[in-house]
Amino acid sequence: MCPPSTWHTFLTHLPKCEHHVHLEGCLTPTLIFHLATKNNIQLPSPTKNPAYASIATLTARYGHFTSLDDFLSFYFIGMTVLKHASDFEELAYAYFQRAHEDGVHHAEVFFDPQVHMERGVQYEEIVSGYVAGCRRAEKEWGISTRLIMCFLKHLSVESAGRLYEIALEAGHLYTTTADSNNKSEEEKKEGVIHGLGCSSTEVGPPKDMFRDIYASASARGINLTAHAGEEGDSSYIATALEIGAQRIDHGIRLGEDEELMRRVAREGILLTVCPVSNVQLKCVSSVAEVPIRKFLDAGVRFSINSDDPAYFGAYVLECYCQVQEAFGLSVEEWRVIAENGVRGSWIGEERKRELLERIDAHVKEYKVLLEG
Ligand code: ADE
Ligand code: ZN
Repeated sequence: MCPPSTWHTFLTHLPKCEHHVHLEGCLTPTLIFHLATKNNIQLPSPTKNPAYASIATLTARYGHFTSLDDFLSFYFIGMTVLKHASDFEELAYAYFQRAHEDGVHHAEVFFDPQVHMERGVQYEEIVSGYVAGCRRAEKEWGISTRLIMCFLKHLSVESAGRLYEIALEAGHLYTTTADSNNKSEEEKKEGVIHGLGCSSTEVGPPKDMFRDIYASASARGINLTAHAGEEGDSSYIATALEIGAQRIDHGIRLGEDEELMRRVAREGILLTVCPVSNVQLKCVSSVAEVPIRKFLDAGVRFSINSDDPAYFGAYVLECYCQVQEAFGLSVEEWRVIAENGVRGSWIGEERKRELLERIDAHVKEYKVLLEG
């Protein structure tokens, strides 16, 4: 689905930041079957789950998710085919390549170590693979990248705590106070993981299950985000902010609480909205139902993201196009969205300035073409 060609070109080359994409959500059915064979991993037998009969049947099943949890049941099976650092590297590299083609200049990507570690994959194998994928993409396409490690809500708090300790001990967790003069050389070591998040099933587990970990991370100056307000109501967003999240992943239920929405706008908190994901997981019935217009009018900052593009059939440019189809935004409104994405990114001031200048130049070039 694409708007007329000049709009499509404008959206393609609009310098974008993506803040909400799960690397494990970039595993296509083709790659799942390929890695399963290569790594000798048994996928579910088609007699038990007919979706796994072939690449075609799995792809077809992805078009009929009934809920977040229905999707997650496939997502957590899919990622079991990842075994070696090189698998993680290839997966990340393939995402960045596609993101680069879609006009992404800066990408902050989630990964889920807990499930891999529970089936025996070493933490180092996962992180070193993903870091290598990031470095290759940075070198090849000049894209800037950030890794965000997610804790999973369907697993125990203890499991998340163990992962947090491992990452801390490895010196992997970047802190925003890293350049403080009071820090020792050891403390100044720049981490390769630029933030922590939490994801997986929303309604069911305690809303504040990671309160203690988030408090510890906040005190250390570690960036924090959280999935909230996807299937759960606006109280999930309020709790995520209360325990220290600086950004909200999804957050589409924010509009239900006018006061909270005013606060989010006032404090410049970024929502990482995923419109196509919301349709695919039946959180809304169409992209037009995602509160894009409401958020723009209320001055709420948000970016547009793909979430799990291999499962939802839409990488980030397609998400931008579907938003344009549904809302018919102006060039200046796209400028606001793109600029807010930069402002909400976990990057230094210099990189922000660079990206803002690129957006400005692009918008100026296309404004006349599109709006006369
Ligand atoms: N993990 C991967 N995609 C997710 C989503 N849309 N919501 C929660 N957890 C996820
Ligand atoms: Zn997500």
